[in-house]
Amino acid sequence: MDITFKKTDILKKHPEDSTLGFGTVFTDYMFNMDYNPQEGWHNPRIEPYGPIVMDPSTMVLHYGQAIFEGLKAYRTDSGDIQLFRPQDNLKRLNTSGHMLCMPELDEAFILEALIKLLKIEKGWVPGASGTSLYIRPTIIATDPYIGLRSSNTYRFFIILSPVGAYYPEGFNPVKIWVTTEYVRAVRGGVGQAKTAGNYAASLYATELAHKDGYTQVLWLDGVELKYVEEVGSMNIFFVIGDELLTPELNRSILSGVTRDSVIKLAKSWGVKVVERRISIDEIYAAHEKGELKEVFGSGTAAVISPVGKIKFNGREITIGDGSVGPLSAKLFKELMDIQYGKAEDRFNWVMPV
Ligand code: COI
Repeated sequence: MDITFKKTDILKKHPEDSTLGFGTVFTDYMFNMDYNPQEGWHNPRIEPYGPIVMDPSTMVLHYGQAIFEGLKAYRTDSGDIQLFRPQDNLKRLNTSGHMLCMPELDEAFILEALIKLLKIEKGWVPGASGTSLYIRPTIIATDPYIGLRSSNTYRFFIILSPVGAYYPEGFNPVKIWVTTEYVRAVRGGVGQAKTAGNYAASLYATELAHKDGYTQVLWLDGVELKYVEEVGSMNIFFVIGDELLTPELNRSILSGVTRDSVIKLAKSWGVKVVERRISIDEIYAAHEKGELKEVFGSGTAAVISPVGKIKFNGREITIGDGSVGPLSAKLFKELMDIQYGKAEDRFNWVMPV
């Protein structure tokens, strides 16, 4: 399929790198492609970034049949642009699509389209330390119909946003809040899919966490309300004794690309990594014994986010001395160094644009 290109008449002003936060600025162009059962995916095009006009009855607006991905393009010191594990994100997009009854995308073709878009938009990849171009591939259901079924037609699009740190705290420790009243996902649901509804389901408890002075919610499993699953927008890791622990993928947890990278890096340094069920009681017991050394979240947007405090059942604990732990710092540096082309790409994760 040929990807067509429609030029914009007006180019936007680029923000200063130092002013970048997360997700408010978008580039000049986007990629679009449509699906219908007769033609399959068709009309791939790069065109000026702009509104998607839709009928008020469009299915995605009513039943949330929407999936997305998040990955980043990085500028190296020599000015080159590179991606980090893009194939893994596109694979997960199809996994999410399968769970949401959406038609499969040709991952190789989407990668080609993304690279073409990035070549046009490379001037938008910021260069300051810790900044990058966030990439948001998305599929939405587009049938104008309000009966409940999966849509017959879809729009796939990719938008780009120059970003700085995800959390206002930057790499400083965040405070997380554990709830036994609300859950993000249940086993047998769509917790492992990167679908809009999972994020919508997290909003109410996150508001409560904010009101209590906490940044994010640490979700427990939806069956026993006992086992740790993930944090807001990230997977979660604990250093207990000399082990690095993270909840095993149980189909209600998102299989994070950064999560997998953390596991592989830590193992390569000889750290014992354990993926298993971890109860919140076990975390508090480890803290009592002085064995809970570090807690951090991992995600594309947040990279590595150290956790300084956890509150559960009205009891707040401080992790270590509340500052960034050595493994969190080492993982953060190594991941960033690989992503920005400063460290050897031992796992073949990086793809030049
Ligand atoms: C990401 O980390 O890329 C995500 O999609 C999380 C989102 C809430 C920003």
